[in-house]
Amino acid sequence: MTGSDVGGTIPSPTPTLRWTGDSIEIIDQTRLPAELALIDVRDTATAMDAMERLAIRGAPALGAFGALAVVVGFDEAAPRSLDEARSVLERLRTQIGDARPTAVNLRWAVDRTIDTALGTPAATDTATLRERLLAEAQAVGAEDAEACAEIGRLGRQVLADATNIATHCNAGRLATAGIGTALATVYAKAAAGEPVRVLASETRPLLQGARLTAWELTDAGIDVSVVADSAMASLIAAGEVDAVMVGADRIAANGDTANKVGTFVHALAAADAGIGFYIAAPTTTIDPEVPSGERIAIEQRDPDEVHSVGGRRLTPAGAGAVNPAFDVTPARLITAIITDAGVLRPPYGPSIAAALAATRGPRGRAD
Ligand code: MRU
Repeated sequence: MTGSDVGGTIPSPTPTLRWTGDSIEIIDQTRLPAELALIDVRDTATAMDAMERLAIRGAPALGAFGALAVVVGFDEAAPRSLDEARSVLERLRTQIGDARPTAVNLRWAVDRTIDTALGTPAATDTATLRERLLAEAQAVGAEDAEACAEIGRLGRQVLADATNIATHCNAGRLATAGIGTALATVYAKAAAGEPVRVLASETRPLLQGARLTAWELTDAGIDVSVVADSAMASLIAAGEVDAVMVGADRIAANGDTANKVGTFVHALAAADAGIGFYIAAPTTTIDPEVPSGERIAIEQRDPDEVHSVGGRRLTPAGAGAVNPAFDVTPARLITAIITDAGVLRPPYGPSIAAALAATRGPRGRAD
């Protein structure tokens, strides 16, 4: 599928994830850009494997996927009584919800789906419980798509004077159930006919920028250039970037933001050059229970991801490797947080609290 197949700036119609009726179909992101392959997820083991290998990834997409994975796991277990169903759901809550510990959308979506289905009035049989699980899981994805569209609309206004936009990792349609967060603003600019060029840092070790951001933007016919992670700061300093726009995996109550490792250095470079550094994220990525960034759990991944590229070992035998998947950018370096509930500005404590209060309750949902 190419950009020309879908008419220029409209993203390819192959969805990142979709409910088929009895399973979840996802794009296998480990195979991009070489191949647009799909995975049919119809058991918990396949769902866990997909999340752990990053075949599905990006905090909002993990939320939408995790919610549907609860349904898949429920169907697989086929509980014969409500008591058995409750115990299956508690097992799935832990197993699926903990798969990617920094991405709060996953934990939030799994809890929301299970808690709503188990809520009052209590389901009187397992079939009704299963219907409720599916309805709630589908609502998580649909609401994420709406949030992405609103983030795009608001982000376009924020980036009105920016043409050259730097981003890190992939916060596009591959990372959400909609058109993305950081890249939603790019799609909105392009759709409005505004000039836009994206500089995508490659994002070692798993190369989400080089592989995924570059794939989805070229697929949509948008001008994108990949730069080595270590090149972005000097390009920013040289005036080649008008603004930096990235996504988030978890935003603390004070605005400190965890995102893909390497984000922090982009923020430092933007601050030094005096350009805007923006986070784009749905309110479901805000975790008001975490007061500040040092309390955000950072996922530590297999050192082999650092040792190797494309299955080829780079480092000498005997060398160690450390592989934190995320870092935390302090709120003081963030110009604004673009959410589906508005563009939040410092001081973030009050603006985040107001956004959550004005929308859908303390965790960004209807309680
Ligand atoms: O490890 P990943 O690929 O799941 O990390 C993804 C990111 O860091 C994204 O920037 C973040 O989840 C926001 S996606 C809209």
